[in-house]
Amino acid sequence: MFSEALAQAAARVEARLLEAIAAQEPSTVAEAMRHAALGGKRLRGFLVLEGAALHGIEAGRAVHAAAGAEALHAYSLVHDDLPAMDDDDLRRGRPTVHVQWDEATAILAGDALQSLAFELVADPRAGLDPACQLRLVAGLARAAGAGGMVLGQARDIAAATAPAPLDLDDITALQAGKTGALIGWAATAGPVMAGADPAPLDAYARALGLAFQIADDILDVEGNATLAGKRVGKDVEAGKATFVGLLGLEGARARARALADEAEAALAPYGVAADSLRQAARFAIARQT
Ligand code: IPE
Ligand code: IPE
Ligand code: MG
Ligand code: MG
Ligand code: MG
Repeated sequence: MFSEALAQAAARVEARLLEAIAAQEPSTVAEAMRHAALGGKRLRGFLVLEGAALHGIEAGRAVHAAAGAEALHAYSLVHDDLPAMDDDDLRRGRPTVHVQWDEATAILAGDALQSLAFELVADPRAGLDPACQLRLVAGLARAAGAGGMVLGQARDIAAATAPAPLDLDDITALQAGKTGALIGWAATAGPVMAGADPAPLDAYARALGLAFQIADDILDVEGNATLAGKRVGKDVEAGKATFVGLLGLEGARARARALADEAEAALAPYGVAADSLRQAARFAIARQT
């Protein structure tokens, strides 16, 4: 069952991530890193492990990069929740880092989680070809940076005060950055580590990332804060540009379904070996959390 496979991957990835945080010098920042790293669905870590398995790289070697994906994601959430960004007080069912500690601690814990992500992805215990590992590290820098996630987040913030509403292409580009870039890196990490062609998993992730963010936007409208572990109903209030705002709930649902189909279709070259990634595409749009 998919939920069991995801839970198993999550436990493995979380153990590696917490081990890396426990190896830091004890400090308030390290405590805040641990707080931010706990919980979550671990979808990005799962994608790394699954993509790696498809290319003959076992979980014991891929787990470093999988934990790296989750460290980078955790950083992005800590900063996303700051008062200067989305100003949220609840994350993964617990107080956000700036609420539990303060803004300086949240900024620094986010910074340190980002650094830790690169340390994990560069872990020599992965036993990778050095040129492949270097491509993996550089790819994460690109995905996370000013042409990827950071650009998407900047567009997300700018859109809230834009004089005219964003159109479908603008919102697609915004979400491809803020959510799609890291999901794309995670899904293609396996072929990159193996020196194989990342194109099929890249196509898969493009569709999956968008579908996943549309589901997040739908959850903000009709989700449950207790289940989601974060506040809902905030996107409209903040004037966020979302597919739901543009297409309505039904239109957004239909778009998410079409994207999940597209994601599944991209896996054709892998045959049944990619079944768990097909299930991940279904999960991305059906989830309540
Ligand atoms: C939330 O990501 C932020 C988005 C990019 C939509 P997730 O829904 O994957 O959050 P966790 O990791 O499960 O908490
Ligand atoms: C967050 O998107 C994307 C990143 C952190 C890069 P959202 O702002 O929609 O995520 P939630 O709804 O707070 O989890
Ligand atoms: Mg945000
Ligand atoms: Mg947010
Ligand atoms: Mg959201």
